[in-house]
This record gives sequence, structure tokens and C-alpha cells, in this order.
Amino acid sequence: RTSALPHPPRRLPFLGDVVGVHASTPVQDSIALSRELGPIFERVVLGRRYVLVSGADLAGELCDEDRFVKHISPAIEGLRSIGGDGLFTAHSYEPNWHKAHDLLRPAFAQSAMRSYHQIMVDVASDLVAHWRAHSTVDVSSDMTKLTLDTIGRTGFSYSFDSFTRDTPHPFVDAMVGVLSHNQRREIIPIPWLANIVFRKADRTNAENQRYLAEVLDDIVRTRRDSASPAATGTSDLLDIMLDAARDSTNPNALSEINIRHQILTFLIAGHETTSGALSFALYYLAQNPHILDAARAEVDEVWGSDTPTFEKVPKLRLVRRILDETLRLWPTAPAFAREAREDTVIGGFHEMKKGDWAFVLIPGLHRDPVWGEDPEKFDPDRFLSAAVRARPGHVYKPWGTGERACIGRQFAIHEAVLVIGTILQQFEFSADPSYRLQIEERLTLMPKNFELSVSVRK
Ligand code: HEM
Repeated sequence: RTSALPHPPRRLPFLGDVVGVHASTPVQDSIALSRELGPIFERVVLGRRYVLVSGADLAGELCDEDRFVKHISPAIEGLRSIGGDGLFTAHSYEPNWHKAHDLLRPAFAQSAMRSYHQIMVDVASDLVAHWRAHSTVDVSSDMTKLTLDTIGRTGFSYSFDSFTRDTPHPFVDAMVGVLSHNQRREIIPIPWLANIVFRKADRTNAENQRYLAEVLDDIVRTRRDSASPAATGTSDLLDIMLDAARDSTNPNALSEINIRHQILTFLIAGHETTSGALSFALYYLAQNPHILDAARAEVDEVWGSDTPTFEKVPKLRLVRRILDETLRLWPTAPAFAREAREDTVIGGFHEMKKGDWAFVLIPGLHRDPVWGEDPEKFDPDRFLSAAVRARPGHVYKPWGTGERACIGRQFAIHEAVLVIGTILQQFEFSADPSYRLQIEERLTLMPKNFELSVSVRK
């Protein structure tokens, strides 16, 4: 019923397009396929069809809110066992999505970042103290410690104390376990077969989920037992949700179970992708000494040796462009799915019935010819205002699109610019010249085995 789309050349009976499919690298495999097969292609695996779009014009159509809506893809569906109808995993038609969105949006407006700034500074200084005591650091691990502590303390006044531990808080392992499990399980869409293949992994997954629930209990219990107001001095996310729940006149009051889903959603969505973004940014800085020097000069000029005030963070314009360019090459939440509201046709040739869906493969979109001759080149000047204005809309989508776009975008930007600025201000750093970027996929993207040599700036 739909037009034939390009697909990988070796399609096997029953199994489908499994040649060249690796459970651990679906995104990187798809980027390679998009180079071969063009702006839209399909992959059929064990009877389940995936349509992947990376062309700018087609992605632009999928971002049309009148014709398309967020689709809960199979892997995100799998996460509903822990996220339920929380903001990220909810269908747009579920009442709790609207309630939570309206209730929590003010807490993520640009102006609200002021109340999180001091905690972000405090956690960045924990990182500085940690790096001062080491000459070689595991970047992704340390960025994960930093971002987990930041969302824990700003959102829930809960400290994971990551920097006083030798290894990341067990929450991280349990979470990565659940995310990776869902990525792998998605490959087998036949329930009885998946139940056999993943029997042992399902048990481990259930244990991980139980552990995450224990952390949740501890967060809620800690709040109930604490007489003091939230650590931000103003309301944190948990206060906002608990206050609304106590107010019988509030139309956006959430149930206790839904509040638990939101806490877990924010703990996961609020740190994993920012951690990857910071790690990739440090990788590109280490690879591009002239950009690193220019960014450091900017920090020295704008911040000097002072701890930055809230206002001074967005003044690091080059650091911001470095973040934007990092998320162009490696958008750490690498795909989002869009579903047709009614029967429609995209690109003038690909028919979609109501309910049919397609992935926007964001790293593919960010390498569309609209980005120029050499899309692999790391060049923050692509985000100078004139260059941005010269490009069509909908070609840069690291934050997703429309009403379901990332609610935490300003939070992530403030945190990431603050942390990159702090590292540039405090440290010299370099990577082993023989390191080649390896990327771990666990629904999100993260540099693997990436270390930096660090020393305090003279
Ligand atoms: C949604 C990316 C940081 C919370 C999304 C989506 C993307 C994204 C692409 C849309 C997903 C979809 O359509 O299926 C990112 C990136 C980040 C980041 C690249 C960091 C560099 C954060 C932070 C928070 C957060 C810091 C919270 C503090 C959320 C939530 C949603 C979301 C709750 C669901 C929103 C809704 O559907 O209403 N994010 N995110 N994210 N993000 Fe982020």
C-alpha cells in the first residue's frame, strides 16, 4: 500500500534486512545506510518495517504539526514499564501529558534557570576538585556524575554524591541496563520469540527496574522526612508536583503514581543526553586546538578568573556555538518518530496511511547537503547568526520538534555552557593522539573509552 522505498541490498527471506545489522550500533549503521540509500529508506527486520528519513525536505514535512504527531516508537514503548505516561513516554493524547506539560513548563523557562544556577556552579566545582586530584580522567563517566548530581539536586533536592564515589552511583548502571535492554529487545518484534531469546536478560532487567524503584522511594521518603524547603530555596520540580497534588482545585494535579513516573523521566532524560553532549564537545575541543584556544580566550575575556554569575553564562557565544555544532554531529538523542494524523503523502511519492510512522534520523538530517560540502567537519561558525538565517527551517533538530520538543533544552544549554566554560577556565587538557572516536549506543549516544590528560592552568 506504500510506494517501494530503497532498502539494504541483501534482504533475506523471513529475517529481512538483517545483514549488517548490529544490535549495539543501530544508529551508526543507519547513518552509513543513509549515505548509500538516500534521504528516505526502509529496513524490514523480522516483519517489522522501519522507515528512516534523513533528507531535509522530507524531515521538514514530518515536523509539520498539523499533519504529524509524536509516535511512541517500539523502544520508547518498552520504556513505559518505568516511565509510564510520564512526559517523555506519554502519547500526546494521554491527559497526563498535557497536565504535566502545563504544570512543569514554567520550571523550564529561560528565566527559571536563575534558580538552578548556584547548584550547577556547585556541582561544576565538585568536578574541578575531582580533576585537580587526577592527571587522567574518564570523560563520559565524569560528565555522567556531574549531570546526574545536577538534575538530582536541582529537580529533587536529592544528592547522588557521585564525586565521593570511586564508581558512578548504581542508579547509572541500572538505568543504562534498562535503556540498552530496550534497544536490543526491540530488534525481535515477535513476542514469544523475544521472550525466549531474552529470558535471562529480562530477569536482569526486572532487577534493574526494581532498583530504580528503590531510588525513587528514597527520593520521595527523603522529601517527606525533610522539614527544610527545597535546596534551590524556591520550589523544585518535586515541590511543584506535590503542591499541585495537594490542591484539589488545580486542574494539572498529578496522581502519586504519575509523579513517580515523572521523577524517573527527569532523572534519566535530564542527565544522560547532556552528559553525552558534554563528552562529545570535549572530544571536539581536544581535536581542534585552534577552536579550543579561541574558546579559552573568550572565557578569559568574559569571566576572567571569577566564578561566573548567571548572566555571564549565555555571554559565552563561541562556547554555545561549540555546543550547537557538537549536537549537530552527534545529537545525543539521535532519533524521534512521527506518525501521520491522517492519510498523507510526503515528498510527493511516499504514501502514509493514518497511523503510519517514520523515524527522523537526526545525525543523517544534520549531514544533509544543506550543511555544505563537508558535513563531517567540526565548524562552530555554522551557527553564526547569518549562517543560521541562510538555512531553511527544520534542518537542525537535536531537541526534537513541535509541542513534544525537549522541555529541558534551556536547562541543558545553561548547564553545558557553564561546565565547558569552567573546564576551559581551570584546566589544560589533551587527548591521546591515537584515540579514535568510538560511540556507545544505548538509545542515547556516548563517546566510549575517551580519556583526557588534565592539568591545572598556570
Ligand atoms: C524530549 C533531546 C536534555 C527532559 C526530548 C526530545 C529530544 C531531546 C530529541 C524529543 C524526543 C521525542 O520526540 O521522542 C535532548 C538533548 C538534551 C536534552 C539532546 C541534552 C543535550 C534534557 C534535560 C531534561 C530533558 C536536561 C530535563 C531536565 C526532556 C523531557 C522530554 C524531552 C521531559 C519529553 C518532553 C515531552 O514530550 O513533552 N529531549 N534533551 N531533556 N526531554 Fe530532552
